[in-house]
Amino acid sequence: MKKVLVSASILSSDFSNLYYDVNDVVLSGSDWIHYDVMDGNFVNNISFGVSVISSISFKINAFNDIHLMINEPLKYLDDFLKCNPNLITLHYETIEKNKIKNIKEYLNNKNVKLGISIKPNTDIPYDILNDVDLILVMSVEPGFGGQKFIDSSLEKIKKLAQYREKSNLSYLIEVDGGINQETGNKCVKVGADVLVSGSYIFKAKDRKEAINKLKELV
Ligand code: DX5
Ligand code: ZN
Repeated sequence: MKKVLVSASILSSDFSNLYYDVNDVVLSGSDWIHYDVMDGNFVNNISFGVSVISSISFKINAFNDIHLMINEPLKYLDDFLKCNPNLITLHYETIEKNKIKNIKEYLNNKNVKLGISIKPNTDIPYDILNDVDLILVMSVEPGFGGQKFIDSSLEKIKKLAQYREKSNLSYLIEVDGGINQETGNKCVKVGADVLVSGSYIFKAKDRKEAINKLKELV
């Protein structure tokens, strides 16, 4: 059985009780914690930044997955490197693609992986797949939690998995937005490795069960 990784998005957590709520999800079995940084510019919402992430990321026993939905991400890269990240994901739409190889080298030298994310209407950038550790397929328009999964994301995941196989590459495929047991199952079947999930996990009556249901997908 294929091992599925779960990355819980803190956007749906109880901000008045942030560390405890996030740690509860870690103790319930979430492998990764997903931090959605939004600048009110690249997306129509403002979330949180370096100081909020740092208040959790050093204290939990999980892989720190930072998703930057911001314009000019390179300007802030060194700031986010101070947040104890394991992975930093930038949006393909916000960077010049000829810089990606160098960014990966820069991050990998600091033991941090590089992810590149694509919005629902962005085509797969095949020419950069050699230079990323992970590709994040957005299955909703970025900006808000609790939206409905866009079905056409499945075709993208499938193509990314086929291309990886054919080209002998090893990037991970992560999917983000509208993930629950049903949509997560479909994503894993076509090749996804990491499922980001916010509302489905944080609002579940039994978080352990919700996370296990995502992980048990074949
Ligand atoms: C959306 C964010 C997602 C979001 C997922 O812009 O990138 O990570 O929090 O939330 P759910 O799982 O509720 O769709
Ligand atoms: Zn996200």
